Amino acid sequence: MTPAPERGFASDNFAGAHPIVLDAIVAANDGHAAAYGDDPHTRRCEANFDELFGSPVATFLTFNGTGANVMALTALARPGDAVICSNWSHINVDETGAPERIVGAKLIDVDTSDAKLIPEQIEHHAHALGVPHHAQPMIVSITQSTELGTLYQPSEIAAICDVAHRHGMRVHLDGARIANAVAACGGGIDTLRAMTIDAGVDVMSFGGTKNGMVGGEAVVFLDPTLGARGQYVRKTVTQLASKMRYVAAQFNALIENDLWLTSATHANAMALRLHAATHDIEGVELDVPPAVNSLFPRLPADAIAALQAWSFFWDWDLSCRQVRWMTSWDTTEVDIERFATGVRQLVGELADR
Ligand SMILES: Cc1ncc(COP(=O)(O)O)c(C=O)c1O
Repeated sequence: MTPAPERGFASDNFAGAHPIVLDAIVAANDGHAAAYGDDPHTRRCEANFDELFGSPVATFLTFNGTGANVMALTALARPGDAVICSNWSHINVDETGAPERIVGAKLIDVDTSDAKLIPEQIEHHAHALGVPHHAQPMIVSITQSTELGTLYQPSEIAAICDVAHRHGMRVHLDGARIANAVAACGGGIDTLRAMTIDAGVDVMSFGGTKNGMVGGEAVVFLDPTLGARGQYVRKTVTQLASKMRYVAAQFNALIENDLWLTSATHANAMALRLHAATHDIEGVELDVPPAVNSLFPRLPADAIAALQAWSFFWDWDLSCRQVRWMTSWDTTEVDIERFATGVRQLVGELADR
């Protein structure tokens, strides 16, 4: 069997941290600095986010993505509120019920085949507004790029925001992979703004961990008035870092060097390459080339466990033999060649038996 790739295709959070990020942490480790965000690195980070969005936004750094989502939703939700989201959304599937328990809001998980909400679904649930026995769908949460590797065009996000705002709802965007989405839409800062602040998104979780940081995410209130109580909300959901400078320094490294975009662009390009290298392997069923950094192939059932033992990746939906392969900022062409060779070999051997 061909040797497994050095960097596998399990997830972008299996990747290590980018050396520029690590250097920034070391540089921030100089002497003492005020705790809890009252330090020059965090101030600079807040200014960097203002510049990114072209407007004074309210930025709060957090430890992780679940915490960022929980904080953002807690800031928006009042007793009796509900959050409209896709059935595939991370807040619905992969946060162990934290939004329900900590935010205290019902999640209305809407059936979506591609993990994307559409305005009609929001309109449909708006019928509950004003009915005292129904949870009030006052928040819409979307993910960009989505958990299924699909993308909203900026105009689609604007349409969701329009219908939500018409009903007095607020819009949260889970941007754990916002950089991959921006890169996929051809972008730079203008694309980021078009799919967030200009589209009318009220608050977003801005991902760092999956894009080369050791750890950290940001809750960005694009409407800063909504962040007025952010510092209290963050502490109550246990996301206030004592030594915040280290989270801030990582974001500064990503933003000031355009690393957030170049790393995501690379990860997306590697996913396209992985698709090209594997789509014609007999037994591997792949749809269209990926928009961002994830592929969802269907494999012969008897090949899945053997391949995972050779180079680990996650199951996705075993009822239809589907798994997930994901590239990251550090994926190399050599990794892809090795992986494709191994898949071809193992799937071929099993087919010959
Ligand atoms: C779309 C999305 N949102 C949020 C998160 C939260 O990440 P964390 O594991 O840091 O809580 C993830 C992580 O997989 C994710 O994929």
